[in-house]
Amino acid sequence: MKKTVKDIDLKNKRVLMRVDFNVPMAEGKVTDDKRIKAALPTIKYVLEQGASLLLMSHLGRPKGGPDPEFSLRAASETLASLLGTPIQMAPDCVGAEVEKMAKELKAGEVLMLENTRFHKGEEKNDLDLAKQMASLGDVYVNDAFGSAHRAHSSTEGIARFLPAVSGFLMEQELEYLGRAVADPVHPYIAILGGAKISDKILVVETLLSKCDKLIIGGGMANTFLAAQGLNMQDSLVEAESLELAKSIMAKSKDKIILPVD
Ligand code: 3PG
Repeated sequence: MKKTVKDIDLKNKRVLMRVDFNVPMAEGKVTDDKRIKAALPTIKYVLEQGASLLLMSHLGRPKGGPDPEFSLRAASETLASLLGTPIQMAPDCVGAEVEKMAKELKAGEVLMLENTRFHKGEEKNDLDLAKQMASLGDVYVNDAFGSAHRAHSSTEGIARFLPAVSGFLMEQELEYLGRAVADPVHPYIAILGGAKISDKILVVETLLSKCDKLIIGGGMANTFLAAQGLNMQDSLVEAESLELAKSIMAKSKDKIILPVD
């Protein structure tokens, strides 16, 4: 059984929580707050326990350091209005200034750290960066299910330096996924989306070995269609995965359902 926020004492603790606030944005505003709402139960629970809360997330795929276009400020404003409390915004996710803000945070207060991907080390799971992040809190909570397939400093590395538990969203998703993979009820149809096959090849193979049908959508479907010889024009196709898509189709063509329009 994996430990959750319910299994540890949070009173007067500084809780460092990884969320997935990688939300769609347009003109500096959040256009879909679903992921922020999904983190609310854990956020509220942590605050009710008398902890102070530091939130960390990535947003988009910034390359080459800090970039205002990928700031989490708008996400923190959306969260503040959903929670009905002000939220402080940090200028970074590590460093002296952030350490000072973290230390001054009182029980019930929330500090949003800036995009973890403003540091090159994040996606390389740099352990020095993870250690610096970990130094900001007493406990690490991972509620970023959407980022759970990435071993980055703020998701995997950091858990090596702090007591780590999952949040409610992570717990719920793991339970659904666990049931679907370990003990599926048939007929069992899985639906998979996302941009890249290469990111999810193990998931695709595992699902194909267990399910009756696999419906593939999202950008990933284009690569399968291209592998069948269709001209995908300007649609996103993962050229380096065409052979992979062909071999998956050759093995499991009868199980895979692709979009037809
Ligand atoms: C997502 O939106 O799929 C997650 O937040 C992960 O984002 P990433 O694919 O940029 O790592």
